Amino acid sequence: MKLLSKFLVCSFAAMAVSAFGQIPVPIPPVLSGPVIDLTVQAGTTVIYPGFTTNTIGYNGNFLGPTIVLDAGQQVQFNVHNQLTDTTTVHWHGLNVSPANDGSPHVIIKAGETWSPAFPILDKAATYWYHPHPHGKTMKQVLLGAAGFIIVRDAEEAALNLPRTYGVDDVPLVFQFKTFDAQKQLVMDDEADNAVLVNGVVDGVVSSPAQMVRYRLLNGSSHRFFNFGFANNKAFHQISSDAGLLNAPISMSRLILAPGERADIIVDLSGEQGNTLTLKSFGTGLPQGYPGGTMMMGGTMGPLDNTDFNVLTINVVAATANPVMSMPSTLTNNVVWSQSGAATRSLGFTAQPMMSMTNFFINGLKYDMETINFTTEQGKTEIWNITNQTMMAHPLHIHGNHFYVLSVNGATPPPNERGRKDVVVVPPMNGSVKLITKYENYGDADMPYMYHCHILSHEDGGMMGQFIVNPAASGTSGVAEQPTFSVSPNPVSTGVLNVDISLPKAGKLEFSLLDGAGRTVRSFDFGEKTADNQALVLNISGLASGIYLLESHLSGERLGVVKVVVQ
Ligand code: C2O
Ligand code: CU
Ligand code: CU
Repeated sequence: MKLLSKFLVCSFAAMAVSAFGQIPVPIPPVLSGPVIDLTVQAGTTVIYPGFTTNTIGYNGNFLGPTIVLDAGQQVQFNVHNQLTDTTTVHWHGLNVSPANDGSPHVIIKAGETWSPAFPILDKAATYWYHPHPHGKTMKQVLLGAAGFIIVRDAEEAALNLPRTYGVDDVPLVFQFKTFDAQKQLVMDDEADNAVLVNGVVDGVVSSPAQMVRYRLLNGSSHRFFNFGFANNKAFHQISSDAGLLNAPISMSRLILAPGERADIIVDLSGEQGNTLTLKSFGTGLPQGYPGGTMMMGGTMGPLDNTDFNVLTINVVAATANPVMSMPSTLTNNVVWSQSGAATRSLGFTAQPMMSMTNFFINGLKYDMETINFTTEQGKTEIWNITNQTMMAHPLHIHGNHFYVLSVNGATPPPNERGRKDVVVVPPMNGSVKLITKYENYGDADMPYMYHCHILSHEDGGMMGQFIVNPAASGTSGVAEQPTFSVSPNPVSTGVLNVDISLPKAGKLEFSLLDGAGRTVRSFDFGEKTADNQALVLNISGLASGIYLLESHLSGERLGVVKVVVQ
């Protein structure tokens, strides 16, 4: 496998310029199997003829191989960091434990190797991987550190869909970038002056005259795409970030924010010999969406509010066994029940109010040492997100997918009703309501991230982190799920923070029981309204050991959480 991947990386780098000055879109080589080696390294790449651009990549100088994984398999990565800087690798969209997630806490120092191992618990869809070191994500991603992850599963495999990699199933990462006069990549996402597809400018792909799947990823640091064909040909979206949609959705324009993915199917039958032009219609982006016009009017970068070509498709002869039709249904996405769900509020603000660069979540900047909230494994949560700023922000949550319940109070469009891990929160008092559930992993020490996927915003602190406490021992099934969480846990400070969502108003009390079931301390918070309560319990002077914290509302037991006092 190693030799094969090396060979493929070489051919990937050898890009020939076609007769029309367009560059064939390189298809990244595939890595699969139980053990996958990734080396992140610096090098140079010729992106513009006559210029040598400094880049970084995985197993090569620019971008990375496509990792193909089967749902249910176990995988181990060995990530070798050959950069002179620290990095991390985040498996964007995969449901892995916080320790395997490649967050800013899981640093790989220069020269070191990181070897996470985990099962693939996800649905068939298009995911990706990229660095996530705090404050350096944008730099490393824009220099080229990014690659695809394709998850396959039995449900998707049973559908008559195109899946011959590189032929009728083509991964395409689109990235706005900023080049200076010497064609070096610069860290100025507001000035983006080029669009690359799989690392080339002005790319062309040959596709057969049949149903062809393109896996679209917006790997940009800042701007949104509004994809569509120059001739307005319709296409179908079949999946969103983390899974199939219930049915193919016909459309002629598709907005994709940084971090978002969409698999689309284009019917190229009867098009042999034709040339199709895929464009981004920046003029069609809503106001306040990066790439369109700003809320206060005007534009920021040279490509904003313009329409431009992003890919040329030359349609060639059909393959031997072409897919010629599309299934009418794909899957059945079942949204978690909202009853009994805890609610959480996230507010995006800017300082000063009109700022286009200085953003906060709930008034705070990201701090590696601060846990913004804790929750409990098995708990369903509804997040209400509001955006008081002048621009749209794509919110991404690590650890598990979610479903969007509403956008600006309305049911989301059909192509946003599937499994998602990035959602666009519209500007100017825009709002999103989503539902999620942390089913598979709990870790009392290592947090998951949530952040804006505009990378300069993320690096600038538009990010938070949360702990998913393992479910308390002795609880099982939905009926016994605790309705509150505590932090820190284990606790050694004498102060315990409690986050509790009350289903109704009433008198709120807690009792702390020792291992023998004796009440060692009681706390009375009096009458509370049906709301989220953030409380502080004084537990100083308690002996080390394991305790149970019970909550009662007007005498009725709400739930119990195991607390470890150190
Ligand atoms: Cu794709 Cu936290 O990132
Ligand atoms: Cu992620
Ligand atoms: Cu943002």
